[in-house]
Amino acid sequence: MTIPSIGLGTFGSDHVSNEAVAKSVIDALQSGYQMIDCASVYGNEKEIGAAIEKSGVERDKIWLTGKLWNDMHGKDDVRKSVLQTLSDLKTDYLDLYLVHWPFPNYHPPKCDVSSRSPNARPYIHEEFMVVWNEMEKLVDDGLVRNIGTSNMTMPKMERLLADCRIRPFANEMELHPYFQQQEFVSYLKNNGIIPIGFCPIGSPERPERDRTEEDVSELSDPILRGIAESRHVHPAEICLKWANQNGIIPIPQSANPKHLASNLNSVTHDPLTDQELSALSKIDKNCRLIKGQVFLWEGAKDWHALWDEDGRIAK
Ligand SMILES: NC(=O)c1ccc[n+]([C@@H]2O[C@H](COP(=O)([O-])OP(=O)(O)OC[C@H]3O[C@@H](n4cnc5c(N)ncnc54)[C@H](OP(=O)(O)O)[C@@H]3O)[C@@H](O)[C@H]2O)c1
Repeated sequence: MTIPSIGLGTFGSDHVSNEAVAKSVIDALQSGYQMIDCASVYGNEKEIGAAIEKSGVERDKIWLTGKLWNDMHGKDDVRKSVLQTLSDLKTDYLDLYLVHWPFPNYHPPKCDVSSRSPNARPYIHEEFMVVWNEMEKLVDDGLVRNIGTSNMTMPKMERLLADCRIRPFANEMELHPYFQQQEFVSYLKNNGIIPIGFCPIGSPERPERDRTEEDVSELSDPILRGIAESRHVHPAEICLKWANQNGIIPIPQSANPKHLASNLNSVTHDPLTDQELSALSKIDKNCRLIKGQVFLWEGAKDWHALWDEDGRIAK
């Protein structure tokens, strides 16, 4: 199966219940979605597995993505983790398995912004390659069809591409009109790596730990709203069209059947004009929402250290 052009997000942002997410999976699959973005840390893979079964949609018509959580970076943990996910999702393979973050620094579910994992450390390439080599073995053994990364930066990706045996198929990353990461997206595409965009509509209901006073939302951007109004659609749909037409696979989350339908429709109908795309390319505010404060290590200045903004891997 080739990767679909839109997927369903399943992170309940600490307030949408597992049952509501499971229901959204059934609604989505029955209304034509073919891709579900899962992660063990979302704590709902069992419910999603049951929902997939209940949907009646055949396994080979669904693209399932899973993610290795940060507390499972030990050499023996990678396989253990995917086996648990396969059992919870009631399947014997994943289409794509991602390393959720390039650090072993984890946070407990529903933590607040001050939470830090005790052994948090910066990116250590040799350690990451141990994880990646285990990921490669999962492909060899047919447990997953493709492997990829998430929350990487360009310098980290360069190191990985230099040393990997199996290249990442995709990188899942924050992407929306106010956070376009144009240089990194071009780099990925030039290297044949698919950008999957999370928080594609700016995650309006994200957890408290991922909110700061500087955050701004494209949903109230005058240019984006103007385009939405001229087409009589919600600004969320313009965000999804923007992603789709920029070669990004968006994975919006929704527990509302009407939104599920309009989101799917937005990437299959009425594309933006070149003029609209050009106008949207200029509204970027470099506004990262998922800053990752909870993954910081002792001695790190602030969340910018996670993102190698000066082109070097932070130590
Ligand atoms: N790899 C990573 O580290 C990472 C990080 C964050 C997220 N993710 C993945 O990306 C997915 C999406 O990100 P996200 O959930 O944070 O944010 P998002 O998809 O940008 O936003 C979800 C919110 O938008 C609302 N919404 C969806 N469609 C809408 C529409 N057509 N009109 C109005 N409101 C709409 C939803 O509410 P309703 O229920 O009312 O529709 C929900 O509150 C996650 O669920 C997860 O699978 C991955």
